Amino acid sequence: MRKNVLVFRPIPPDLLAGIEAEHDVVVADPRQPAQAPAFREALAGAHGMIGSSIRLGAAELAQAVRLEVISSISVGVDNYDLGFLRQRGIALCHTPGVLTETTADTVFALIMAASRRLVELASHVREGRWTRNIGEDLFGWDVHGKTLAILGFGRIGQAVARRAALGFGMRVLYVNEGPVEVPELAGRATAATLDQALAQADIVAVTLPLTDSTRGLMGAREFALMKPGAIFVNGARGQIVQEAALLAALDSGHLRAAALDVFATEPLPQDSPLRRHPLVTALPHIGSATHETRRAMAALATRNLLDALAGRPPATPFRLTAVPAAN
Ligand code: DGY
Repeated sequence: MRKNVLVFRPIPPDLLAGIEAEHDVVVADPRQPAQAPAFREALAGAHGMIGSSIRLGAAELAQAVRLEVISSISVGVDNYDLGFLRQRGIALCHTPGVLTETTADTVFALIMAASRRLVELASHVREGRWTRNIGEDLFGWDVHGKTLAILGFGRIGQAVARRAALGFGMRVLYVNEGPVEVPELAGRATAATLDQALAQADIVAVTLPLTDSTRGLMGAREFALMKPGAIFVNGARGQIVQEAALLAALDSGHLRAAALDVFATEPLPQDSPLRRHPLVTALPHIGSATHETRRAMAALATRNLLDALAGRPPATPFRLTAVPAAN
């Protein structure tokens, strides 16, 4: 039976055609917010939705009275009101696995950029300031051999750890709810408490999901616990960090640098001090943004959507059973 599908982020034409072959599709204008009349109208009739990067809270989802499934083109599911979805029996699918290595590459690029001052020194060349050999004032800091703390040891955290331990000879500490067995990292990655990891690491990298227990996790106390001169990297979600506290730790000289792919508000507001801070390397949320990986994510999400609408088990559902139902 043909159903109504709302596509809320552009997907490759061949994947869109695959959905159109089975269902009636409305493609939302990506520049329109979820509150726009056309979006609300499509939402009200949709049986299935596919997309990402739009907050769909209880207020928006309450209008989606026919909704059976949201297929998110993301691994993170923090944009959705999970309790509401559970209560209403709406399935949620996401795209773990296919973006692991690309996102770990991005986190490692952030580590390298901040430690070796890559963006700052590339600007030095581009802006014509490379007129003699650079001096100590522009030297960076080694990455190999340092201690890296990884907050969150899921797929992406483990992939960062492999790069760090096996490629760069780093000592890896990880902070996770339980110990994790990764055979290739045996003896090379050690579980630690948050406080231990912060106190010992030269570089702290966040790869946690955003949940009620990780929101605001990195605040003034946590930044103060970090070693003087340490580097902070976030490739997960901006809301895990209290940005004012991070800025204070940079401005006081306690932290050496930060490299951030994610921010509490995205796109980063024009007046955010993080945009132009000399110690911050800021990227526009590019964790999984390669041609290959975004294609793989869209393809997996399309399959999940079509399977769920047809009553077949999708490959990568997000299990809502552990999520408390909305009030
Ligand atoms: C993800 O997949 O969650 C990425 O951060 C894109 O939103």
